[in-house]
Amino acid sequence: MAASYYYSILLASLLFIATTCSANFYNDFAITWGDGRANILNNGDDLTLSLDKASGSGFQSKNEYLFGKIDMQLKLVPGNSAGTVTAYYLSSQGPTHDEIDFEFLGNVSSQPYTLHTNVFAQGKGNREQQFHLWFDPTKDFHTYSILWNPQRIVFSVDGIPIREFKNMESQGVSFPKSQPMRIYSSLWNADDWATQGGRVKTDWTQAPFTASYRKFNADACIWAAGSSSCGSVSTPSTSSSWLNQDLDTTSMERMKWVQKNYMIYNYCADIQRFPQGLPTECAPTS
Ligand SMILES: *[C@@H]1O[C@H](CO)[C@@H](O)[C@H](O)[C@H]1NC(C)=O
Repeated sequence: MAASYYYSILLASLLFIATTCSANFYNDFAITWGDGRANILNNGDDLTLSLDKASGSGFQSKNEYLFGKIDMQLKLVPGNSAGTVTAYYLSSQGPTHDEIDFEFLGNVSSQPYTLHTNVFAQGKGNREQQFHLWFDPTKDFHTYSILWNPQRIVFSVDGIPIREFKNMESQGVSFPKSQPMRIYSSLWNADDWATQGGRVKTDWTQAPFTASYRKFNADACIWAAGSSSCGSVSTPSTSSSWLNQDLDTTSMERMKWVQKNYMIYNYCADIQRFPQGLPTECAPTS
C-alpha cells in the first residue's frame, strides 16, 4: 500500500516534470557575481562555480517561488576543500526574511564535509542542524531537495529525508508561508569559521576550487506580480501532490536512521545554548 502510494506520487510528479519543466540553467538562473568564475556549460545542462583567492561566485533563480519541491544535483569541491563553503538555499528579502538553507562546509582531504542546515522564519533562525553524509559528496553528483509546502519543510539527500520542520503556527512558531523566495547558491571562502571551527585554513595552492550543478527541477508555485502560478495559497488550483505531501512511515524511518547515525549537531539538543528552555518547535509532537 505504501508502495502504491509512493508510485502514484512518483507518477504524478513525472507527469508534472514532463509537462512543465525545461531544466535549463540559462532559462532558470542568472549568474550574479564572481566575474567569470561562474559558468553555464553544455547548452544549459551544467553550471559550475569557482573560488580563488580573489573571489568566489554565485547565481540565483530568475523566478521567485512560494512553495515547491525543488531538486538540484551537486558535486562538491574535491580534495582539500577546507575553508570553502558551498551554500545552496532559498531566501526571501528584507529584515524579516524567511530562509531554508543547505550549506556544505569543506574539509581537508579524506575528512568528511559537514552539511549544515537552518530554517529562518520572519527573520529568526538559530535552528541549526548539521550532518555528515553517508557518501563522499565530491566523487559524484547527488540530489539535494527541499520540499516546502504549507504544512512542512523537508530537507532530503538522494530522496532520503534528513530533516523536517513542521508548521507549528498553532503553537506560536512562525512558519515561512507568505514571502516568496528565490533560490541562491554561492561558493566562497569562510576559513575563519567553516572547517574544524576555523582552525584549518583554505590552502590557496589548491585554487581554483570548483563545485558543479546539474538537473535542477522545480515542481513549484511561481510567484509573479503578486500572484501564484498555483492559484490561491490556501486553496491552490493545482492538484500537485507535493503541496500536501507528508512523510510516510518509510520516510520517517529513513530520517531517523540519518539523524541517529549522521547528525553531528542539533540545536534542539543544545540545552546549554537555550538556558531558558528549548525552542517550542523542539518539543516532541505526535
Ligand atoms: C572535518 O573533519 C573533522 C574530523 O573528522 C570533523 O570533526 C568535522 O566535522 C569535519 N567537518 C568540518 C566542516 O570541519
